[in-house]
Amino acid sequence: MALMDKHKVKRQRLDRICEGIRPPILNGPMHPRPLVALLDGRDCTVEMPILKDVATVAFCDAQSTQEIHEKVLNEAVAALLYHTITLSRDDLDKFKGLRVIVRIGSGFDNVDIKAAAELGIAVCNVPAASVEETADTAMCLILNLYRRVTWMHQALREGTRASSVEQIREVAGGAARIRGETLGIIGLGRVGQAVALRAKAFGFGVIFYDPYLPDGVERSLGLQRMATLQDLLIHSDCVSLHCSLNEHNHHLINDFTIKQMRQGAFLVNTARGGLVDEKALAQALKEGRIRGAALDVNETEPFSFSQGPLKDAPNLICTPHTSWYSEQASIEAREEAAREVRRAITGRIPDSLKNCVNKEYLMAASQWPSMEATTVHSELNGAAAYRFPAGLIGVAAGGLPGAGAGVEGIVTGSLPLAHGIAPVSHPPHTPSPGQPSKAEADRDIPSDQ
Ligand SMILES: NC(=O)c1ccc[n+]([C@@H]2O[C@H](COP(=O)([O-])OP(=O)(O)OC[C@H]3O[C@@H](n4cnc5c(N)ncnc54)[C@H](O)[C@@H]3O)[C@@H](O)[C@H]2O)c1
Repeated sequence: MALMDKHKVKRQRLDRICEGIRPPILNGPMHPRPLVALLDGRDCTVEMPILKDVATVAFCDAQSTQEIHEKVLNEAVAALLYHTITLSRDDLDKFKGLRVIVRIGSGFDNVDIKAAAELGIAVCNVPAASVEETADTAMCLILNLYRRVTWMHQALREGTRASSVEQIREVAGGAARIRGETLGIIGLGRVGQAVALRAKAFGFGVIFYDPYLPDGVERSLGLQRMATLQDLLIHSDCVSLHCSLNEHNHHLINDFTIKQMRQGAFLVNTARGGLVDEKALAQALKEGRIRGAALDVNETEPFSFSQGPLKDAPNLICTPHTSWYSEQASIEAREEAAREVRRAITGRIPDSLKNCVNKEYLMAASQWPSMEATTVHSELNGAAAYRFPAGLIGVAAGGLPGAGAGVEGIVTGSLPLAHGIAPVSHPPHTPSPGQPSKAEADRDIPSDQ
């Protein structure tokens, strides 16, 4: 067969494979200046210097895909996102040209990574972001539960005086000694390990449960490993959650597992709200089965003390999913996320990506050979940050890929023009009595690294 014919057949085969999904997905020619969209934020000042010579950067400031302009849905090649927007299979389906999603942070439970892989979209995270901040916050919450700092502060604010030993006893009632206590860590990943190191320095004996880690990690870190969640719960005075949320551990802490905890134990969650059944936790706090809880993450966010099952729960400290935050961590995460997008644009997907979390699914789902990414034309520099509110669209001077007339938005390096466009419009992880252990079964799913 002539060389041309061979190529044609190969191309036709490729087209058939891609049929019903989208045109060449893993790689293939990208627009010379592809569109990168920050979905749930509005500040692209950190990302711009890293991407401006290879992409046009837009921001949507959306909380759902319904708020994302059609132009972004049709043309964005890369999406950056925080944790405040969720991308289910249906949401992912709306993006017609997307090839890579980068979570600005470590957790990626707000993206259906399997569905993304089936659609040929690589999903990446920034795993190193905020490890120390999150561990420090977890430690701070643990210490708060033991030393009752938050509640003492509150008592003083409310005018309580502590001038006699009796009054001090009243205000500080429940403050406890840490030395000799056992901290149980569920999920000994990056944050879990950082918490373990800190907790040891405070005098905790540290035990952990993580069925996905290979044998030996307990020896290198000098920790005690528990074979089952139940063992961990039975032996812990304070339980701190540091596992990723996945399809197997929703409501890992529920009425059943709370009953396995020590009477009067503490619970801390800086991982994900979906890990804890808040109704069961509220009940346990009211009954004193759990002495105190500190949550940075909740089942429904943003959290409000005035709604939901925890609204009248006693001995509860809540922070608004801010464990990850420090100015430095935030900038580092954004820079690294932008660099990952840059690697996707200028290199090969997924080979050039540093932290692709659905690579296995992606490789399994994709049948076509990877193709060279198109060279990005440096003469097309001048990308800018734009806002794409539903109904309004920002377009660069020189135009977005396929864009019509401009425009409204925050534009660096081009003139903002106004133009309105109509808006587009389980079960518990711990085996119940008689259930087989899930630990082995779970090993075949990729870890949430
Ligand atoms: N609150 C915040 O601001 C904030 C910031 C950073 C990370 N996080 C969350 O903290 C958690 C830990 O982050 P990380 O970077 O250490 O993640 P990681 O992937 O490094 O570690 C997670 C660990 O959990 C383990 N795991 C998964 N399912 C488990 C289960 N059912 N039981 C026990 N262990 C299980 C995994 O094997 C892994 O070792 C994640 O949920 C992440 O989303 C929250």
